[in-house]
Amino acid sequence: MKNTLFAAFLLLAALGQAQTPAVFNVSVDKPGAEVQPTMWGIFFEDINLGADGGLYAELVKNRSFEFYTPLMGWKEEKSGDSAGSLIVQNRGGKNAANPRYLRATAKAGKYGFSNEGFRGMGIRAGETYDFSVWTRQAGEQPVRLNIELRTPAGEVIGTAALAPSGKDWKKEKVSFTATATEPKAKLYIWLDNPGAVDLDMISLFPRTTWKNRPGGMRADLVQLLADLKPGFFRFPGGCIVEGRELATRYQWKKTMGNVEDRELIVNRWNTEFAHRPTPDYFQSFGLGFYEYFQLAEDIGAEPLPILNCGMACQFNTSEVVPLDQLDPYIQDALDLIEFANGPVTTAWGKLRADLGHPAPFNLKLLGVGNEQWGEQYVERHKIFTKAIKDKYPDIRLISAVGPFPDGEQFDYLSKEMTALKAEIVDEHYYRNPEWFLQNAGRYDRYDRSGPRVFAGEYAAQSVAVVSPDNKNNWRCAIAEAAFMTGLERNADLIQMASYAPLFAHTEGWQWTPNLIWFDNLRAFGTPNYYVQKIFSTNRGDKVLPILYQNAAAAGQDGLYASATFDQATGEVIVKIVNTTAAAKNTEIRLDGWKKTSGSGKLSVLRSDSPEAVNSLDQPTRISPAEQAIEVKDKKVALVLAAGSVSVIRVKN
Ligand code: AHR
Repeated sequence: MKNTLFAAFLLLAALGQAQTPAVFNVSVDKPGAEVQPTMWGIFFEDINLGADGGLYAELVKNRSFEFYTPLMGWKEEKSGDSAGSLIVQNRGGKNAANPRYLRATAKAGKYGFSNEGFRGMGIRAGETYDFSVWTRQAGEQPVRLNIELRTPAGEVIGTAALAPSGKDWKKEKVSFTATATEPKAKLYIWLDNPGAVDLDMISLFPRTTWKNRPGGMRADLVQLLADLKPGFFRFPGGCIVEGRELATRYQWKKTMGNVEDRELIVNRWNTEFAHRPTPDYFQSFGLGFYEYFQLAEDIGAEPLPILNCGMACQFNTSEVVPLDQLDPYIQDALDLIEFANGPVTTAWGKLRADLGHPAPFNLKLLGVGNEQWGEQYVERHKIFTKAIKDKYPDIRLISAVGPFPDGEQFDYLSKEMTALKAEIVDEHYYRNPEWFLQNAGRYDRYDRSGPRVFAGEYAAQSVAVVSPDNKNNWRCAIAEAAFMTGLERNADLIQMASYAPLFAHTEGWQWTPNLIWFDNLRAFGTPNYYVQKIFSTNRGDKVLPILYQNAAAAGQDGLYASATFDQATGEVIVKIVNTTAAAKNTEIRLDGWKKTSGSGKLSVLRSDSPEAVNSLDQPTRISPAEQAIEVKDKKVALVLAAGSVSVIRVKN
């Protein structure tokens, strides 16, 4: 089989060699529009266990007993004739953000309880684990606690002891080292002697996190983001900004400070899809707004917060805040800017400094609402943008144009936003791969008199939008690459672009496709991830004209192309997507190139099969391969592999 495929490949390659070359003309001496440093970025939303159970490295689920079912994720553990009780108590207003705690009472024998984690806990041999708990003595005698990590078969792979005492709440901590690697471990807490103890915020973190921050983020997942070198970092979504109803909208002020004071709410994706219910999906906000700004800074991305503008998700309740009651929402936006940029002498700037970051985060971009539509958006948008611009004229605002890239809502809002002189509009495209191919020329003929464009959410859907059968296959990824050449050719208009959603847990997802998949120990970038990466790490900063058959290469003969110039390195960067099943003999003519000959680098992303995917076991099956190339007579001769994305870099 392999031999036959190889023979077919050689034949196609030979045919490619024999064809008259497909000629691309790059005007190296005619640099045009600037490609914004923000061009290729990332979109984060807590969907598919993206935060809790994903990026946020906490291993204990429902650590504060605040889920709707307070003991969800927890289980009483007894052996033989042991006896005891687990009672959830509620101290109400004494701790309004986190009212519940657990009273555990041991009466006889070995008594305790366990936590199942997020589809288990991923534990690594040799890693140090930091256990902590808020606790107080609830009876006459202190109760010693014995902490264990166990495999599903019951083998103990880590253990520690704690001896809390005293009648006041105190945070107790103990660390221990795991003796084995296990993707589905559970945490056990045994009461070592009869008595009663109160417990809250029961937490377990690996010592190794991103930058080894205590209570931090999963290092492997952040690394995958950092490797993209994203230009911006959109957060916190997505529909999660809006909430199913206003009460569960994202409120950044509630995501700051001590984690035990961050009020947990239900995740809107908990119940969104009847075909993928996730009853244990809540938002602990351990990954809150401070952590977000810090992460954006770590990976060199411009922060791009999207804020609720007084509208709940229009696919759900469509609740809106009356126009004369928008002030708290507007104040949240103004305060966020002060938090990010204000001097430490301001109230919110001081909080930033108190949290450990006196220097400003230099926020420049802000989104007003997520995927809103209709007149109700226009009304709120006007009030919002005026208030923000009056106080912070330099902040660039992103405005919504609905959930679809065309149709009535899109046409209405596009017109309104042009009339309102909106700076940037956020277009969303969840369409089949053919749409992406057909629309690769969308912006070559776009009206330039309106707002600039943020391609804020896109992903080719292999079956249908939100179908659980959608795959992150090469067919979708190559179609996105073709579309992205169109975005890049039109970088005067397209200021930013991000694939969505970003993350998905292989056992806890609601939505597919997604850019990065992970389980409790492993993660991989999809072919779509490598498309994003090949574009973002080969951005360039000036658009260069590139013509194929005297026109923009937007699908003629199944070919798509864009070119840029990198002023810092002096390199010409050409991206060509060959969506056909045949290799293509190609000539890239570097018109106006200073030299006659030279060398460069070719990176190729390809697959023999449109249905091919990456996986936890084959994480880099589709990933770029590199080789050297020659320039002769100001020309690069290439055979573009069938079904490939090729990027060449040559120094001018
Ligand atoms: O990316 C998933 C969802 O798609 C986002 O939350 C929303 O903005 C869009 O409809």
